[in-house]
Amino acid sequence: MSLLVLILASAGLLQAANSHSVPRVNTAAVIDFVIPKTKLNFAQNNVSAKWAPGYPKAWGSESFNYQFNEPSPDDVFGSVVTEDEKYLALFNGSHVKFIDLDTNATASTFSLRVPDGNVAQTLTLRPASKGGYDVFTTGARYRYDYAAFTVRQYIGPDLQPVGPPITYEGGIGAISKQGKLASPYGYIYDLETTSDAPVATLDGQPDITDLSFAPDGVHLATVSWHEQTADLWNATSGEKIFTFPATKAQNWATRFSPDGKYIAIVVGSGNMTVQIYTLSNLTAAPLEIKGFNDWPRQLDWSPTSQQMIIGDNGRLRIFNIPSAEVVQTWQVDVREYVYNPVDTKWFDNGSKLTWVWRDGRYLYDFDKNVEWLWTVRNTDHSWGSSRFSLLKKRDYAVTHDGDSTVRFWKI
Ligand SMILES: *[C@@H]1O[C@H](CO)[C@@H](O)[C@H](O)[C@H]1NC(C)=O
Ligand SMILES: *[C@@H]1O[C@H](CO)[C@@H](O)[C@H](O)[C@H]1NC(C)=O
Ligand SMILES: *[C@@H]1O[C@H](CO)[C@@H](O)[C@H](O)[C@H]1NC(C)=O
Ligand SMILES: *[C@@H]1O[C@H](CO)[C@@H](O)[C@H](O)[C@H]1NC(C)=O
Ligand SMILES: *[C@@H]1O[C@H](CO)[C@@H](O)[C@H](O)[C@H]1NC(C)=O
Ligand SMILES: *[C@@H]1O[C@H](CO)[C@@H](O)[C@H](O)[C@H]1NC(C)=O
Ligand SMILES: *[C@@H]1O[C@H](CO)[C@@H](O)[C@H](O)[C@H]1NC(C)=O
Repeated sequence: MSLLVLILASAGLLQAANSHSVPRVNTAAVIDFVIPKTKLNFAQNNVSAKWAPGYPKAWGSESFNYQFNEPSPDDVFGSVVTEDEKYLALFNGSHVKFIDLDTNATASTFSLRVPDGNVAQTLTLRPASKGGYDVFTTGARYRYDYAAFTVRQYIGPDLQPVGPPITYEGGIGAISKQGKLASPYGYIYDLETTSDAPVATLDGQPDITDLSFAPDGVHLATVSWHEQTADLWNATSGEKIFTFPATKAQNWATRFSPDGKYIAIVVGSGNMTVQIYTLSNLTAAPLEIKGFNDWPRQLDWSPTSQQMIIGDNGRLRIFNIPSAEVVQTWQVDVREYVYNPVDTKWFDNGSKLTWVWRDGRYLYDFDKNVEWLWTVRNTDHSWGSSRFSLLKKRDYAVTHDGDSTVRFWKI
């Protein structure tokens, strides 16, 4: 296939492309897909990242793909590849289907329904400690509402539902490795039991915007946008351990570092600051990272806790922690407001990083200084959110794309 690539450097075109379907561009040439030009690409030793051979690639050139029902902009769709790379789970708003990735056969289909008068939203999976999985969906009255509840169905190692589904109040704020679910309503549920009653309640904190568990499963950080608060709790007792100094701003997100040493708080409003507190010395002034060109909306710790990726308008930067030095930058080549990268995630023990900008899914390899991009063609439409899986044993990248399609790409 010969691909002529349109370099999208004009902000006008970019705005037009916002509508989630890339504009048809009338030229004599066949333009297959759109690649944003970068002002700065991730680089190593001052050498800019190179495309992996054959990349960028567009939807339609994947090795194979999966859909549940015929994709439609009104559909509910969710998909997850299990951590052991054995199954692909698909959700269509009322049913979950597990596909065995060795045989490509359907291993199980069961219903996962939300109470009448509500709409299901997401699919979340957790390997259960006794084998099998907890399968979750959140739901609300309307599809884009803040999740009002979470439905959990336990399935055994044979992927068949065991017992009735359990409904919790509030969406999924965070799930600890120890099996506690913290909802943004301030309830802590124990997923190792079949009780729908909370085991702890964060007193006086019903309006949480984001939550993050420490690896010990006890310390829980929360922030509130409306109430402009940031707190540290004991998730076992529900007691407040510490109230962070007032930010006087809409706090947007919080993330414990994977080693449990640091708590990052994203301060929104006009401040555009990331504060990093040290758990062992909460009263010490936080490290503050400033100078963002917009609210830092994406933030993710590297698995070593020594780096943090923070995204703002059209840009991703990697900071060393605690020096706050910028070590690598990726930035699209446009001056105006152009969207923040989303869904950043480190893979492969921190040697790879993925993100989405517009409808393009990127992957960067730090060791090889190589980059992949999977993106829409100008005829494609996208209406949902996106996920990424890297199948190390099978050598596939999997893009869970916004057109209710899961694409497998041999890499
Ligand atoms: C990196 O390259 C740029 C442009 O080629 C140059 O201006 C800069 O001095 C180089 N930096 C280092 C550390 O070599
Ligand atoms: C598995 O089945 C799906 C859906 O029927 C199909 O699109 C795909 O090509 C198959 N994949 C493999 C690896 O056989
Ligand atoms: C989901 O798929 C199942 C099984 O194919 C089907 O019976 C059901 O109607 C679908 N649900 C929705 C909401 O489309
Ligand atoms: C959390 O609460 C539990 C139960 O009250 C208590 O045993 C534990 O010591 C507390 N841990 C911290 C870190 O406060
Ligand atoms: C955020 O901005 C407000 C208003 O300018 C200010 O009062 C507050 O101290 C700032 N907070 C931080 C953490 O910088
Ligand atoms: C906590 O931080 C403060 C301020 O930086 C410092 O004076 C104090 O010695 C630290 N305490 C401990 C236990 O490290
Ligand atoms: C992951 O990375 C860390 C530090 O970069 C290294 O010490 C560790 O051995 C790596 N683990 C694996 C499984 O590769």
